[in-house]
Amino acid sequence: MRVPLALTACLALVACDDGEPDRGYAWALGVGLPVPLVPEDNPMTAEKVELGRHLFYDTRLSGNETQSCASCHRQELAFTDGEALSTGSTGQRTPRNSMSLANIAYSTTYTWANPLLLDLEKQMMTPLFGFDPVELGLRGMEDVLIERLREEPRYEALFAEAFPADDDPFTLTNVTRALACFERSLLSGNSPYDRYLGGDQDAISESAKSGARLFASEKLECFHCHAGFNFQDSIAYEGRPPRNGIFHNTGLYNIDGKGGYPAGNTGLHEFTGVAADMGRFRVPTLRNVAVTAPYMHDGSIATLSEVLDHYAAGGRTIVDGPNAGVGSANPFKSSFIRGFELTEDERADVLAFLDSLTDDTFLTDPQLADPWQ
Ligand code: HEC
Ligand code: HEC
Repeated sequence: MRVPLALTACLALVACDDGEPDRGYAWALGVGLPVPLVPEDNPMTAEKVELGRHLFYDTRLSGNETQSCASCHRQELAFTDGEALSTGSTGQRTPRNSMSLANIAYSTTYTWANPLLLDLEKQMMTPLFGFDPVELGLRGMEDVLIERLREEPRYEALFAEAFPADDDPFTLTNVTRALACFERSLLSGNSPYDRYLGGDQDAISESAKSGARLFASEKLECFHCHAGFNFQDSIAYEGRPPRNGIFHNTGLYNIDGKGGYPAGNTGLHEFTGVAADMGRFRVPTLRNVAVTAPYMHDGSIATLSEVLDHYAAGGRTIVDGPNAGVGSANPFKSSFIRGFELTEDERADVLAFLDSLTDDTFLTDPQLADPWQ
């Protein structure tokens, strides 16, 4: 939870003189965030972040110019979209729930269950060029995209300043690099809970403090998976090398009594084909979770109180319909999902704690907002 002292000292400076390629970039680290790792071939610069912000909010990035990344990743919702499943630019539905991009710079694998997507630069190929389902729908339109960008007067200076060494900076690689830099700048470390950890005893209520203790207790077990400063266990930062491949089954489904999850959403199993990987998903961050409803990989839980019902039961029971089954009996379920009893007060405390993770600065920061408005 705490940042090592040496690191904290380093955070106060504009950049650490440790030879890292992001030298000179001022990370907005807030109270309790460590320095993210960045790929050597894409160091952070303020100029790339600014170009990336323009691209993130630009509908030229969809085939029919109706959608941008921000259509499904809205700042005021911690860069989620408020829908159970998202709708792409041609009306197709995504199989999974849009994910928060808060503190995405620390993740070691991207999306809900893909163990192979290790870079932001690669992840965005799916929304940009994917066709099953179509999201932004730019497949086969790489040249069209570059021409569109060239025609926008603002981009001339933005691309030139972001990539000063390039004769012609208008390339797809530079588009992806700038977008990734903007994504890495989406740092959320100023919630009331961060301020409390930073020493401000009054930053959160007594109820939220009790909730934090319950969250970190062996009764609720939440902290094993929602671990550390980002409440997520697949994480890396300067001084901590990546830990990959951590996926868990929380007993959300058990359709056939043998652990089955709905077809098309079987989690890690979809990539490995290994039976025991059925229903295993990556742990999402809980930062700003109060504004990212609905929940879970398929948006199948509407409220945080119902999320607590699911965990309290040691896995969700669905009584009827095609997905009926007793999740608590899922044979592939993590041993940390055992179920527990909560009094009404304790429930309110855990909810108050989760609420204290909402970082209003992040949700309203003009530097992360739409520059075209
Ligand atoms: C049509 C809606 C939609 C659009 C447009 C979209 N996304 Fe997403 N995004 C999603 C969904 C849904 C997921 C979860 C994907 C999955 O697990 O299959 C996601 C996941 C992600 C993730 C992974 C987050 C994590 O915690 O691992 C990143 C990063 C991301 N999107 C960035 C982008 C960028 C950058 C763009 C623009 C180039 C973009 N998205 C456009 C819906 C969208
Ligand atoms: C075994 C690891 C594990 C434990 C223990 C655990 N979680 Fe989770 N949590 C996950 C995973 C994995 C998901 C995503 C599951 C999915 O979508 O199928 C998740 C999803 C969530 C979500 C939804 C977030 C979103 O953006 O959709 C919330 C809220 C949550 N957990 C809170 C808690 C709380 C509170 C506890 C303790 C009572 C807890 N978790 C215990 C692994 C865990």
